[in-house]
Amino acid sequence: MQAKIILLPGDGIGPEVVAAAVRVLQAVEKKFGHSFHFEKQLIGGCSIDASGVALTDSALKACQSADAVLLGAVGGPKWDDPLAKERPEKGLLALRKGLGVFANLRPVKVYPSLVGASPLRPEKLAGVDMVVVRELTGGLYFGKPKCREQIDGRTHAVDTMEYMDDEIRRIVDMAFQLARGRRKKVTSVDKANVLETSRLWRQVTADVAAGYPDVKLENMLVDTAAMRLVSNPAEFDVLVTENMFGDILTDEAAVLSGSMGLLPSASLGSDGPGLYEPIHGSAPDIAGKGIANPIGTILSSAFLLRYSLKLEKEASAIEMAVEKTIASGRLTADLGGTANTTEVTDSILDVL
Ligand code: NAD
Ligand code: IPM
Ligand code: MN
Repeated sequence: MQAKIILLPGDGIGPEVVAAAVRVLQAVEKKFGHSFHFEKQLIGGCSIDASGVALTDSALKACQSADAVLLGAVGGPKWDDPLAKERPEKGLLALRKGLGVFANLRPVKVYPSLVGASPLRPEKLAGVDMVVVRELTGGLYFGKPKCREQIDGRTHAVDTMEYMDDEIRRIVDMAFQLARGRRKKVTSVDKANVLETSRLWRQVTADVAAGYPDVKLENMLVDTAAMRLVSNPAEFDVLVTENMFGDILTDEAAVLSGSMGLLPSASLGSDGPGLYEPIHGSAPDIAGKGIANPIGTILSSAFLLRYSLKLEKEASAIEMAVEKTIASGRLTADLGGTANTTEVTDSILDVL
């Protein structure tokens, strides 16, 4: 098959992990006889440096007309001034919105050989296998008003959490669909004891759940969920939640697997290209050293093959190669290993 894939390496370790994933995609291309056309575009701090904005219209248009988009990470200390007009992260939010990718799937699994890499006791990790379905184009990140203003000599800042019922319905529906193919349980996470958006979320969720009598629904407050993710993580199957709750809970859940560097994600809309990115950031503390864990991005490229290009066999081949590499103990420093980014990628390519 022929496909056009936009690469958005971004900042920090972004270019290092995207380069690793491209090597893997090129190996798949050769082995399975496909033809992938890769095109690089700027996003984040490097785009601000080049053009003053974190995502240009032409970069967004290129993404919109591709088959899929693979992103590394954005941001870094160079662009961190709290008063800056343009921030790298703004480009990422504009990209997600511009692609309409409202559903961010972040699976969390524990690899048997990495149980020791997590600070949790091994018995807590047994049976951990969940997918967090994070709403990605609404909620606190996008609500209006969003501003900073002077009021009577004081500085006032506002962010707004807002949802329309249909935005909730489509993401919760996706969670139930997913749960049907898994252990048939959805945990909907909110703060319904305080937030009006959460009370709407709960109401819509109950409504959606009525259409899935075979799937069990559980509602959980977000503070409790934060606690249970580390005290009883195996209870979760599909966890669906608001944008920022999902952001925070997935960094927490990454601790179960042993490193942020392992977790991939797929961001999907109702049509159009999907966006694929690891859940970690630009890791300025290790950028440029060639030691970043490429696995989160490589697994994201497997999702790209599965969801956007419908290449299931090829996606599974990458996942199997990653599993074998992890089991072999070829690991980067975040997992206690001594291998660098290239060596881990080489090992995955060898298995492939
Ligand atoms: P981070 O995820 O970049 O790093 C957190 C810690 O995890 C660091 O110690 C880092 O070295 C480590 N880490 C992350 N990914 C790793 C990998 N692949 N291999 C090995 N170690 C890894 O979070 P941060 O330091 O809080 O944020 C840095 C910048 O990244 C900020 O500007 C933030 O806004 C941005 N960020 C971007 C994204 C994204 O582009 N999707 C996601 C999160 C944070
Ligand atoms: C992530 C990141 C982003 C988010 C930031 C960089 C905008 O933390 O992808 O998890 O909060 O969505
Ligand atoms: Mn995050």
